[in-house]
Amino acid sequence: DENLRELLLSRIHDVPDYPKPGVMFKDITPLLADAQAFGALTDALVDLCERCDADKVVGLEARGFILAAPVAVRAGVGFVPVRKAGKLPGATLSQAYDLEYGTAEIEIHADALAPGDRVLVIDDVLATGGTAEASLKLIRRAGAEVAGVAVLMELGFLPGRERLEPALEGAPLAALITV
Ligand code: PRP
Ligand code: MG
Repeated sequence: DENLRELLLSRIHDVPDYPKPGVMFKDITPLLADAQAFGALTDALVDLCERCDADKVVGLEARGFILAAPVAVRAGVGFVPVRKAGKLPGATLSQAYDLEYGTAEIEIHADALAPGDRVLVIDDVLATGGTAEASLKLIRRAGAEVAGVAVLMELGFLPGRERLEPALEGAPLAALITV
């Protein structure tokens, strides 16, 4: 609702020219430091988790971990990390994706999900959609089903939603705020 959006927006700080000139960084650390705001964010994400009938939550390293872990605990479902390449000790599935310059790679443990698992992906920001899109490929390659994607904020001036749309295959994409 509008009160939640205003609360969340008031705790996200704009940092100009970070990490490079011309970029407006959206700093969520004031939101995380505010128990009421972080609690309200978690409640809203738990609600989405229940509505899409997810039985696993995947968090995207690093900021997605912070948001996703309390949701998994409160919703009573397991947490599975999608990590940047080279950080997981077991057998992994890897997915490369394009960045503005060059490529990145993320991984999931090959045995972290099972057929029939319904997975909600949680991250802080949907920007170009590259990270989220790659995570959906990993989830399907691991044999599970995508129940939905939930982000704290969507950057409405970038075509992330359009990019993600085909990979969603009908699953919902929820953004609590659009900036
Ligand atoms: C940021 C953000 C999202 C991603 C969104 O992560 O947290 O995960 O970029 O961008 P995209 O939609 O264009 O893929 P980043 O890897 O920069 O940093 P983090 O490790 O702090 O989460
Ligand atoms: Mg991130």
